[in-house]
Amino acid sequence: MITSQRIRKAVIPAAGLGTRFLPATKAMPKEMLPVVDEPAIQYVVAEASQAGLDDILMITGQNKRSMEDHFDRAPVLEATLRDKGDSKKLEAIQHATNLGDLHYVRQGQALGLGHAVLCGKQHVGHEPFAVLLGDDLIDARDELLTTMMEAQERLGGSVIAVMEVPEESVSAYGVVDAGGHHREPGAQVVPVHRLVEKPPVEEAPSNLAIIGRYVLHPAVFSELERTPPGKGGEIQLTDALQAMAAKAPEEGGGVHAVIFRGRRYDTGDKLSYIKAVVTLAAEREDLGPELRPWLKEFAQSF
Ligand code: UTP
Repeated sequence: MITSQRIRKAVIPAAGLGTRFLPATKAMPKEMLPVVDEPAIQYVVAEASQAGLDDILMITGQNKRSMEDHFDRAPVLEATLRDKGDSKKLEAIQHATNLGDLHYVRQGQALGLGHAVLCGKQHVGHEPFAVLLGDDLIDARDELLTTMMEAQERLGGSVIAVMEVPEESVSAYGVVDAGGHHREPGAQVVPVHRLVEKPPVEEAPSNLAIIGRYVLHPAVFSELERTPPGKGGEIQLTDALQAMAAKAPEEGGGVHAVIFRGRRYDTGDKLSYIKAVVTLAAEREDLGPELRPWLKEFAQSF
């Protein structure tokens, strides 16, 4: 029998080195890069909070202090804005501090995403929990996390999010064999049979790529403890989930995938980051009306 437990906790790994964004990320976390006027990580924390996850553990590392400062109170700045009567900006900076109960743990060395998640073991304990990658943005208008949480509560085990990507891009992702050859068109939740981290194009089991949202059974922690370094010498969450997929349900095993068909932006990648900023700015009420005609004119100049 599957005993479901309400999911309350989110783990946000944000301790990666951000090498794809160097030199900008030499001394500054990629998660603090502004997406219009909020750092990328604030969108992710807001998404967790919106889904009702009010206990948020951030996995941080070297050069990541600015993230803690961003979600903390700023008494001097707040007093200055209050004295000036600038209530709009005051509200904007206080919003970040009110998104939930934030906790931090440091990953001493960036040994991989699996290792970063394992750093949350003590805080999470024995309950299912969500993982949101700190550089992966899901458009707030498109539903994903609550669908995943409902699926985990209903089916047990772990739930991952996948997206169809062009075949030639599969080797940049974890890729799954999900739903078998008879996957119903339009199906949203499918069982996962196999997960492979960054396979060569010719060995990829499908074009369904794992994206940065997970709802995990706590048994993943003991699996991660025995997961050896995999692709790139890093402890891979994908490898631990491959082992979880083969486990019996009473051991916390079983993996399902929610197929996401909405808008997603990878802010750890330069091109995708630029697209995210332009898209979100063009759609904003305060910036869009001036930006959209300019963009049209600019595009015609090529
Ligand atoms: P990425 O592979 O996108 O992050 O990991 P990275 O290693 O910083 O990226 P590049 O390739 O060097 O540019 C996905 C997520 O997992 C976190 C990252 O911060 C990111 O949010 N992560 C990765 C950790 O927290 N610790 C790690 O050891 C690795």
